[in-house]
Amino acid sequence: MAIIMTQNQKLLTWVDEIATLCKPDNIYWCDGSQEEYDNMIDLMVNGGTAIRLNNEKKPNSILVKSDPADVARVEDRTFICSENGADAGPNNNWYNPSEMREKLNGFFDGCMQGRTMYVIPFSMGPLGSDKSKIGVEITDSPYVVANMRIMARMGKAALDVLGNDGDFIPCVHSVGYPLVNREDKTWPCDPENRYIVHYPETREIWSYGSGYGGNALLGKKCLALRIASVIARDEGSLAEHMLIMKLTSPEGESKYICGAFPSACGKTNLAMLKPTLPGWKVETIGDDIAWLKFGEDGRLYAINPEAGFFGVAPNTSAETNPNAMASLQENCIFTNVGLTEDGDVWWEEMTNELPEKLTDWKNNPWTPDSENTAAHPNARFTAPASQCPVIAPEWEDPKGVPIDAILVGGRRATNVPLIHEAFSWQHGTFMGSIIASEKTAAADGKIGELRRDPMAMLPFCGYNMGDYFAHWLKVGKADGAKMPKVFYVNWFRKNGAGKFIWPGFGDNSRVLKWVFERCNDSADAVETPVGFLPTKEALDLNGLEIADKDLNELLSIDAASWLEEVPSMREHLEKFGDRMPQELLDELDGIESRLKAEA
Ligand code: OXD
Ligand code: MN
Repeated sequence: MAIIMTQNQKLLTWVDEIATLCKPDNIYWCDGSQEEYDNMIDLMVNGGTAIRLNNEKKPNSILVKSDPADVARVEDRTFICSENGADAGPNNNWYNPSEMREKLNGFFDGCMQGRTMYVIPFSMGPLGSDKSKIGVEITDSPYVVANMRIMARMGKAALDVLGNDGDFIPCVHSVGYPLVNREDKTWPCDPENRYIVHYPETREIWSYGSGYGGNALLGKKCLALRIASVIARDEGSLAEHMLIMKLTSPEGESKYICGAFPSACGKTNLAMLKPTLPGWKVETIGDDIAWLKFGEDGRLYAINPEAGFFGVAPNTSAETNPNAMASLQENCIFTNVGLTEDGDVWWEEMTNELPEKLTDWKNNPWTPDSENTAAHPNARFTAPASQCPVIAPEWEDPKGVPIDAILVGGRRATNVPLIHEAFSWQHGTFMGSIIASEKTAAADGKIGELRRDPMAMLPFCGYNMGDYFAHWLKVGKADGAKMPKVFYVNWFRKNGAGKFIWPGFGDNSRVLKWVFERCNDSADAVETPVGFLPTKEALDLNGLEIADKDLNELLSIDAASWLEEVPSMREHLEKFGDRMPQELLDELDGIESRLKAEA
């Protein structure tokens, strides 16, 4: 048992309270050491939760298989319990906070019997940065402890930052499977009773019944987005579902770019992109979350609050993302992927050649003829960010990096061009507010359906999204603010035969180059009713073979099809009722009348 390393009274009292409620057999304070991590792995391996991968193929790495009923974030079981229901907004499931507390008290009472309760102090953001936040997660899952060590700065170092008087965001997690008169399972959980609960006013997180990803690693979606978005609203900053990248030109000039895309739309690929354009370089600061605060110069500076990548494995390959593949060669946790005969991992599209046979994520024998996939579509790798070969040297700079451009976008087979630039911050906010994407496997639900996911924050905004849009507008009007330019991108346009017409991946550097040059006012654009588009000549297509017909489609606006979409945009914005800022409805009116003039 690790020794208690703090005299922070608030923390000690809270840990006592939670222990009294959950009734664990033991309490263990995590110090964040390698030895402790190794012990967690041993525990999982000995208990059958994990298997060690072949040390020659993937040193110091494990494969974990979850319960097939616990494989993704559960948005319909995620709650924002603000005092006033309207403050949670139509974008969230609201539940009365005192009723929720009573309900959860019932579930948490005795929920850790027969188990160890782990106390995980952690810092989201570089240790000691004034932009970082300290959280403490209590959990009964060694899998969570191990993942948190990769995803956050965790243990004694975080406690040292907290000190005796510091404040922290309390996060309580249980898999919801007390060991009373029953054996443990390899993946204990309670799929019938899952609650991922946030109290925005008191800034607390409680999660019950799931051990998977964002439901259980509470520093990530729960703290760094849902609770942090509320804090950002109150502080005049932003907490966003965005990657952060550094883009350097052949002349050695760098720009920092953030990108908001819904889950499983290629944020990790874009953040680590290997440009096909000679001389251009992309380096990674973060692949999922950005916290942005004004610097004294009026620019927005971003930090990545995370320390690792919790990436979607399927479709990640040496072709689609060589830098991600290089990041996960050792010291990783793989969840719900296939296991090869020689003790390595495999997932769909990882290699061109398929393994002859393997064991699939449900532990069944698998061959290329099997009907089921080898990996679950939301299978994940957890990898330390420091292992990424293109991690930017300044990725842990406590000051953050000054942001020049923000990209927004989603998966759209039709209508939306390759890129268009906003006329202003207000128009950029509008663009973000109507992001639509075809649904992916990152959350439970029907794949492929189009859903509007404003700023890619629909599942992650901890308050009413109408207020969130108003906050974005307010941030843009802050004294002396020098706001980034906003661009809407779409790598996923398809032709009539259902084939992607833009090659994507490394060739997205062509689009990034145009963004870079627009930030320097050195690239041409045409003005359309919905924003500035690159002229064909302004987009660097050197060395790329692309049919003229496809290029025309990628770089034009079809006014009639856009007009057909306007009612669904209006319906979406009007859902936020009187919380919806009029400025964004005005933006839509402006676009509609310009489109009508053109149609
Ligand atoms: C993630 C998600 O895990 O967005 O990053 O679902
Ligand atoms: Mn994400």
